[in-house]
Amino acid sequence: MRYEAISPAEWERLEGAEHDRIYSGSSPFFFSDEHIDPAKVLVWEDYCYKQGRRRDRGHRTKRLFELMGVPRLHGKKILDVSCGNGQYAVLFAMLGADVEAFDISPVGVERGGRIAAANGVADRCRFTVQNASSMQYPDATFNIVVFHEVLHQAVKYPNVREETLRVLKPGGIAVCAESLRGNVLLDLARKVTMRGGEAKGDVILEIADFETFAEGFSDYRLETMSLLFMAKRMLQGQVHRGAVRSFLRLLKSTDDVLLSAFPGLSRYCGECVAVFRK
Ligand SMILES: C[S@@+](CC[C@H](N)C(=O)[O-])C[C@H]1O[C@@H](n2cnc3c(N)ncnc32)[C@H](O)[C@@H]1O
Repeated sequence: MRYEAISPAEWERLEGAEHDRIYSGSSPFFFSDEHIDPAKVLVWEDYCYKQGRRRDRGHRTKRLFELMGVPRLHGKKILDVSCGNGQYAVLFAMLGADVEAFDISPVGVERGGRIAAANGVADRCRFTVQNASSMQYPDATFNIVVFHEVLHQAVKYPNVREETLRVLKPGGIAVCAESLRGNVLLDLARKVTMRGGEAKGDVILEIADFETFAEGFSDYRLETMSLLFMAKRMLQGQVHRGAVRSFLRLLKSTDDVLLSAFPGLSRYCGECVAVFRK
C-alpha cells in the first residue's frame, strides 16, 4: 500500500500513537537515565552500536553534526523538527544553542521536557506538540533547522518544505540525515526486517526526493555514504565483537576507495546527509 492511500490527518493520528508508545519511558541515546554526557555522544563511533543495542546511525549523524558546526553552537537558534524524545534538542542546548523542538507525539515532547530539565537546559530548550506542516514560529527565526531521520516520515505531509523555508533566517541552513533507496544490502535488510516499510509510514527516500525538497533554497548539497558498509544493518547485535568491528572498518575503507575511484557508485549508497541553504 502506498502512503498516499491514507490522509495526512490519519497518518498524524497513527504515527503520533505509534511514537507515543516508542517514547514512553525512553532514555536519551545510550544512557540508562535522563542524564546526557555530551562528550560521550560526540565520540560516538562511526557505527555507534552499544553492546546489545540496535544502533547503527552514528555515521551520518556524525557528518550532520560537522555540517551544523557542533560542538560550537553558542548563539545559534536551532529548530529540531520532529524531535522524538528530544535527545538531540537537549544535546544542542547543552552545547550552547537556543533550541525549539516539536513532534506530533505528545509523549515524545513530554519526555523531551523532562530530559531538558534533568540536564539543566529547560530555559534554552522548549518542546511543543506540532505538525511540520504548520509550524508555529515567526518567519526568519532560525539559523539551523534539523531533520534528523525525519524526512522519510515528514514527506507524507504537505507544506513541510515551505514551512522550513519560512522559519529559516536568510542564509540559514536546513540539515537532514537519512537512509536512501538503492543500496542492495539495505534494500535486502528492509525486505527482511520491515516488510517493505512504507505501509508503516516510512517512505524510503530517493535522491530525487531531496532534489524536490531543495526547490526554493538558494543552495543544496547532498552527500551520499555507505555502500558495502550498509552490511552493518545485517550485523546488528554483533558489533560488540572485535572481529565484526574490524570487518566493518574494512568495509568502510573499501567504500572510501571504491567511491573515490568510481563516483557513479554513489547512487547505490544507503545513507546521506543533505544541506539546504536559504
Ligand atoms: C524516526 S523518528 C526521529 C526522531 C528524532 N528526530 C531522532 O532522531 O531521535 C521520526 C519522528 O518524526 C515524528 N513525525 C513524523 N511526522 C511528523 C510530522 N508531520 N510533524 C511532526 N513530527 C512528525 C514522529 O512522531 C517521530 O518522532
